[in-house]
Amino acid sequence: MHTERLSVNKAADLTRASELLSSGELVAVPTETVYGLAADATNVDAVKKIFKAKNRPADHPLITHISGPEMIEQWATNVPDWVSSLCDEFWPGPLTLIMEKQAWVSDVITGGNSTIGLRMPNQPALLNILDQRKLAIAAPSANPYQRLSPTTAEQVIAGLDGKIAAVLDGGPCAVGTESTILSVVGGQAKLLRAGSITVSQLQPYVPVSIDVPIQHQEAVSGNKDIHYRPGTPVYLKSIAELLRTDWNDTRIGLISCSAEAASTQTEFTRHIGDDSHNYRHRLYATLFELDQLGLDAIWVERVPDAEEWTDVRDRLQKAAN
Ligand code: TXA
Ligand code: MG
Repeated sequence: MHTERLSVNKAADLTRASELLSSGELVAVPTETVYGLAADATNVDAVKKIFKAKNRPADHPLITHISGPEMIEQWATNVPDWVSSLCDEFWPGPLTLIMEKQAWVSDVITGGNSTIGLRMPNQPALLNILDQRKLAIAAPSANPYQRLSPTTAEQVIAGLDGKIAAVLDGGPCAVGTESTILSVVGGQAKLLRAGSITVSQLQPYVPVSIDVPIQHQEAVSGNKDIHYRPGTPVYLKSIAELLRTDWNDTRIGLISCSAEAASTQTEFTRHIGDDSHNYRHRLYATLFELDQLGLDAIWVERVPDAEEWTDVRDRLQKAAN
């Protein structure tokens, strides 16, 4: 299959992306978090193609992306009333809500679960497509199973060229890590995946205490130990280890955050700083870039312990497992 390259800056390309989606094809689309591999969520045959293209096990549920909170009722039932406050505050944005699914919703999307994940993405071109066509799209991250989530169109192409109808290039994703996933099933609140929106930010809008399980049985692929993984082995290192290493003649990539680590410069060092927003924005693209260089290893300096780094620590831990 030839994978068409489309751009959000061309009106004709946006129309083409919508047409492909409406006719049951797969299109990789930009969101504010990472690129998603999208199919019309009401078309079961189209959704099945996602699992095939990604080589994703059938029991891993997909997030359905909708154009606004008014579409929740179509997909979910028994929605706690306080969900509207969460949507008012955080949608469009990187928050996925897991709710009880409507009976008509196919098991293919939900991986056989009785629940569905819904999110309104904060990407104007994508929202336009969803809004104009009254579309909802099922979209996991646009990477082959167990590889890094893509934050650029080039990264999508590197993983899925020839397997999908098109990629819609919207430039680098603004946020850079996958959405925060909160289950609100049964009126309880449980964090299933850390994201850039933290529990402290969510809690004021949730009348019950948000449970943050260390390990859970939920079918979240991000919960599996091997995930978000580049091909080159990744190791987490303290600043002390970095400073006592002799970097001469090594073929080790380094992603650093602290000012002290900037002194360990080699041609394979990428210093992405200690601002959590900027770090998150650059992390996957930097791992991807270093992974292309055929290095012996990628070392990543441990990031700060503060809550705003929770999702970054989680992804790095998984990349390093
Ligand atoms: O930011 C994001 O969430 C990106 C963009 C494209 O929106 N999507 C994304 O999709 O990260 P994916 O498939 O790579 O991860 C979605 C996670 C999966 O780990 C899946 O198991 C979980 O959401 N999920 C989806 N529906 C669920 C459900 N009903 N119950 C529990 N987990 C669910
Ligand atoms: Mg994924």
